[in-house]
Amino acid sequence: MKRLSSVLWSLLVCGAVSTAWLSHPVAAAGPTAAPTASSDNGALFTAFVPVLRHPRCMNCHSKGGYPRQGDDSHRHTMDIRRGPAGFGVTSVKCSTCHQDHNLGAAHLPPGAPGWHLPPPSVPMIWEGLTDGQLCESIKNPKQNRGRNIDQLVEHLTEDKLVMWGWNPGEGRTPVPIPHDEFSAKVKAWQAAGAPCPAR
Ligand code: HEC
Ligand code: HEC
Repeated sequence: MKRLSSVLWSLLVCGAVSTAWLSHPVAAAGPTAAPTASSDNGALFTAFVPVLRHPRCMNCHSKGGYPRQGDDSHRHTMDIRRGPAGFGVTSVKCSTCHQDHNLGAAHLPPGAPGWHLPPPSVPMIWEGLTDGQLCESIKNPKQNRGRNIDQLVEHLTEDKLVMWGWNPGEGRTPVPIPHDEFSAKVKAWQAAGAPCPAR
């Protein structure tokens, strides 16, 4: 009898625990909660894509063999080109003007460590892609220079050229979502298995 009641007791406890466990996704599915992995249709990605589509990022991730400038993403003045490795051409390297920090006033070169464009072999061009294509492109090791999801997330949340978008220097609009919020959204996407919107 003693034995039976302790079995019943543990069944009750288990029941309570599993009910709490099961009810968790239901409770989290309120109108303000982030979508869960199963219900996600790319919403976890589109929650932070406005940062990637902002000119601060797109000016280095656009079509053409050259960087862009300004909020209208016009072609970089002075005929600056990508060059064989993304650092410019021999006579005019990015580092001729861009340093590892922003120079003090509007229209002076902005800067961050390692300022350059992706190489022509893997140009990481996002211009003209749908959200689904952009998501798949940054996840594709052939198009992102061999990064797995963890490395991609680290790049998105910590890389110096990416971080520059929140501190772009005098006279330039920073990217739209505060950095801690952006990082949290990127990590929520990662935790759900990095799902992409339909192409
Ligand atoms: C000054 C140019 C520059 C700016 C500005 C820049 N990037 Fe990049 N980005 C690069 C370069 C160069 C690489 C390639 C690095 C490597 O693999 O060697 C890269 C790679 C990436 C990748 C790797 C995956 C891929 O396929 O594209 C991501 C993601 C990325 N950047 C996000 C961003 C975001 C987000 C911003 C804006 C907040 C940004 N970048 C701004 C130059 C830039
Ligand atoms: C001869 C000097 C010079 C060289 C070389 C140069 N830049 Fe620039 N760049 C500038 C100046 C100056 C600005 C700022 C223009 C302004 O704000 O009006 C600028 C702005 C930019 C911006 C715009 C940032 C934004 O979002 O508005 C990007 C991106 C950029 N450069 C990338 C590069 C890359 C990549 C290279 C090498 C391939 C390079 N630049 C080479 C002088 C140079």
